Amino acid sequence: MGKIIVSPSILSADFTNIGSAVSEIDASGASWLHMDVMDGSFVPNLTFGPSLVRAVRRITKAFLDVHLMIVHPNRYIWEFADAGADSITFHYEAETHTQKFLSEIRGTGLKAGIAIVPSTPVSVLEEVLPFIDLALIMTVNPGFGGQKLIPECLNKVNKLAKMREEAELDFLISVDGGINEITAPEAKKAGTDILVIGSSFFKSGDKSGLVKQLQI
Ligand code: DX5
Ligand code: ZN
Repeated sequence: MGKIIVSPSILSADFTNIGSAVSEIDASGASWLHMDVMDGSFVPNLTFGPSLVRAVRRITKAFLDVHLMIVHPNRYIWEFADAGADSITFHYEAETHTQKFLSEIRGTGLKAGIAIVPSTPVSVLEEVLPFIDLALIMTVNPGFGGQKLIPECLNKVNKLAKMREEAELDFLISVDGGINEITAPEAKKAGTDILVIGSSFFKSGDKSGLVKQLQI
């Protein structure tokens, strides 16, 4: 596997100054930017929609990693694709026809991702593995930044990495929730390729140092 991808989440940014948060992400050396879309139904929080993705697209070349925590995500692929997302990751728990939806996302030219919450086993992903570019393992219950990583979820990263090897596939594995300097090495050991990092990124006084440290 190559270098670890670091994907800072703007959920933890100062929302009165999104432009400078995006500049800080770009300046840190991270090549991805994670955008958490929440609908107040799939998760008990509300954030933003395609209009913010469009605004962020205008000011950065970063890979826009859009994480949909919404019910019926299939209703919104075109809006997010048109807004400039590079990947769309939706929740297994929020969509019955996952294979169909993954293919539709790929059909728009975007990378297709599927996410699972801590209580969902990785085995449910077995049949859709050939259709994904990215699998996101939530390491907290989704909805809020700043939570503590649930260590048991890292076993799922390990299991999924084994499933990928057995199936001879090359999708990326991402972890999201409670990632910091302490938990990142464990996540990497478990086999992740992508580290989503929200509060610890924005709290850090040395963002490029942090990104460098996480990338190794
Ligand atoms: C949580 C979101 C995460 C969040 C991570 O539901 O999906 O992407 O921004 O934030 P931290 O890194 O603070 O746990
Ligand atoms: Zn997320």
